[in-house]
Amino acid sequence: MRILSGIQPSGALHIGNYLGAIQQYIALQDGNEAFYFVADYHALTSVRDAGKLRQYVFDVMVDMLSLGLDPEKAVLFVQSDVPETVELAWLLSTVTPMGWLEKCVSYKDKVQQGLPAEHGLFAYPVLQAADILLYDADLVPVGQDQKQHLEITRDVAERFNNVYGGKKGVFRLPKPYILDNVAVIPGLDGRKMSKSYNNTIEIFDEPAVIRKKVKRFVTDSTPVEAPKNPDTCPLFGLFKLFAKPDDLAEVERRYREGGIGYGEVKTRLGEALVERFAEPRERRAEWVAHPDRVAKVRAAGAEKARATARTILEKARAACGVG
Ligand code: TYM
Repeated sequence: MRILSGIQPSGALHIGNYLGAIQQYIALQDGNEAFYFVADYHALTSVRDAGKLRQYVFDVMVDMLSLGLDPEKAVLFVQSDVPETVELAWLLSTVTPMGWLEKCVSYKDKVQQGLPAEHGLFAYPVLQAADILLYDADLVPVGQDQKQHLEITRDVAERFNNVYGGKKGVFRLPKPYILDNVAVIPGLDGRKMSKSYNNTIEIFDEPAVIRKKVKRFVTDSTPVEAPKNPDTCPLFGLFKLFAKPDDLAEVERRYREGGIGYGEVKTRLGEALVERFAEPRERRAEWVAHPDRVAKVRAAGAEKARATARTILEKARAACGVG
């Protein structure tokens, strides 16, 4: 199967990105044809500093490599190394009704948070549709917050196929791949973990910072000795995703019986996080020390991605009569 997904370089990656997306990228790079990219065109809707953007792009490439994405198995590339994306976005935008974009929650959210209502932000889902359709993706691993963008992608593809495709159609219709237990990872305040809510735990923060941040996790005021319901506790929900099986069983039992305080759970979550990312942290230092190796991965990825993208763009151009 053809797998494709992207991450915006808008700052350090957090554990919501890891659990909601990158873990699935890693699982799907085996036995499939996988394409994973750094969405720098998309990040232009929020990052307005060339130096910073270049640094963030490098950081996300390095994060993906350190966490276990393997350039021998998956094509790892940077979106803007494939400028064909922007041309396809234009072709798609000519068949995209305004109303579809007007109902997008992520646009409305961002404008409400104070981002200026610019055309790029409004047309963001069309660019995302281009990303996906340009590679004939079957499956797109993402968190729940991207579901609506995937629906628009399918709608736009269908529309283009209906208008221009003839019997065979031009684009393959992609499906989202969203795992229930990690679809929405909560942040320190219990809302969805997101940079714009300032409630994130960064994957590659220093261990001391991770331990300290976890302490900010919001909990209720149930006393230590009282029984607690692990199924409705966001702190436990996160602990569950990182704990070793024995630790998990013990903490769960003590939740139900009473006798465990949130402070202890936070400490144990902090330790589990530090431990989980210890090896990637070491690998990361290696990649950072060798930017030439990262550049090589990037260049090789761009070449492979572009070859695929060109074929599909040509089909789309021919179908609508340009070029
Ligand atoms: P971005 O950069 O915001 O997030 C990258 C991935 O992480 C997931 N994610 C989460 N999952 C669960 N819980 C959370 N709290 C959480 N926070 C983030 C996101 O769902 C996403 O899968 N528009 C996309 C980037 C993009 C893209 C694409 C994705 C551009 N083109 C084409 C797929 C296909 C975005 O802003 O993701």
